[in-house]
Amino acid sequence: MASKVTVIGTGNFGSTVAFILAMSGSCHEVVLRGRNINVAKGKALDMSQAANAAREHTVVRAAEGPEDMRDSQIVVITAGAPRTPGMSRDDLLTKNAQIVKNYALEIKEYAPNAVVIVVSNPLDVMTYVAHKYTGFPRERVLGMAGILDAARMAHFIYEKLGYGAGQIRATVMGGHGDTMVPLPKFTTVAGVPIEDLFDSEEIGEIVKKTKNGGAQIVNLLGDGSAYYAPAKSTAVMVDAILKDTKQIHSCAVMLQGEYGYSGVVSGVPAMIGAGGAEQIIQMTLKTLQITRFKNSVAAVQEMLDTLYEMKFFDDLEQKNDK
Ligand code: 2OP
Repeated sequence: MASKVTVIGTGNFGSTVAFILAMSGSCHEVVLRGRNINVAKGKALDMSQAANAAREHTVVRAAEGPEDMRDSQIVVITAGAPRTPGMSRDDLLTKNAQIVKNYALEIKEYAPNAVVIVVSNPLDVMTYVAHKYTGFPRERVLGMAGILDAARMAHFIYEKLGYGAGQIRATVMGGHGDTMVPLPKFTTVAGVPIEDLFDSEEIGEIVKKTKNGGAQIVNLLGDGSAYYAPAKSTAVMVDAILKDTKQIHSCAVMLQGEYGYSGVVSGVPAMIGAGGAEQIIQMTLKTLQITRFKNSVAAVQEMLDTLYEMKFFDDLEQKNDK
């Protein structure tokens, strides 16, 4: 079957996801859906031509409307206002919740069998919104963040160590925000625990830099957030799903009892295959890690509570009552 991925949002993030997929021939077709159809068409043409230069078979085309999402195996939602300097991911809450809700309803109608990857911020809450409004089972609505945060942690480890590039396996759990939980205990360089390579002060520095990794780039760019590492991390998830690799990647999913939480989205290790997050992996956490994860879940819950207080989900509840 021809593989098709729709990317919603033609900004830097969405375009870069589409470009990476086209350059690696990950799928037969990438559909770019943006508000400005001419921009989407222009970028799609440019990328299809680049795919030819790369001797790849992927065709990129622009969506004229939501119906062009039909038969997508994966829909990536990148749409939303980006973070600007001084703005936390959480400031984007209500603005992006509305945008993600509208696209989730379209996906429900036109791509009812797709796996949805959410990358709009605040990531965990937007994944919750997409899960609720598509009505898809939780394994088919994933937030992309764990791979990105782990890549940032790996970068900062390499920067400090000066060797081991490509051999660093970092682990980050929890929400994609200031309360994310980098896990040095589950982080190795070619199997060597980083605790054997750094002292606790150095590890503390790496953890701090990881948490601040997104904001650092926001401040440098001045008018938007990072997109190369986020886009590559998204493409890793797309490949895991399309190729049914069943590899473990941290991603944001609706928890159903795992780690002691239900009805809230947070980043946890999951086995990713054609069905999405086919299995959530339960790691044994130590007391401090449990506390940090709890704080991270609480931060997401607080934003969800804000949306519930604003009656954001009321239309959904009324529909369910009928
Ligand atoms: C980041 O961390 C965009 O949230 C994304 O850079």
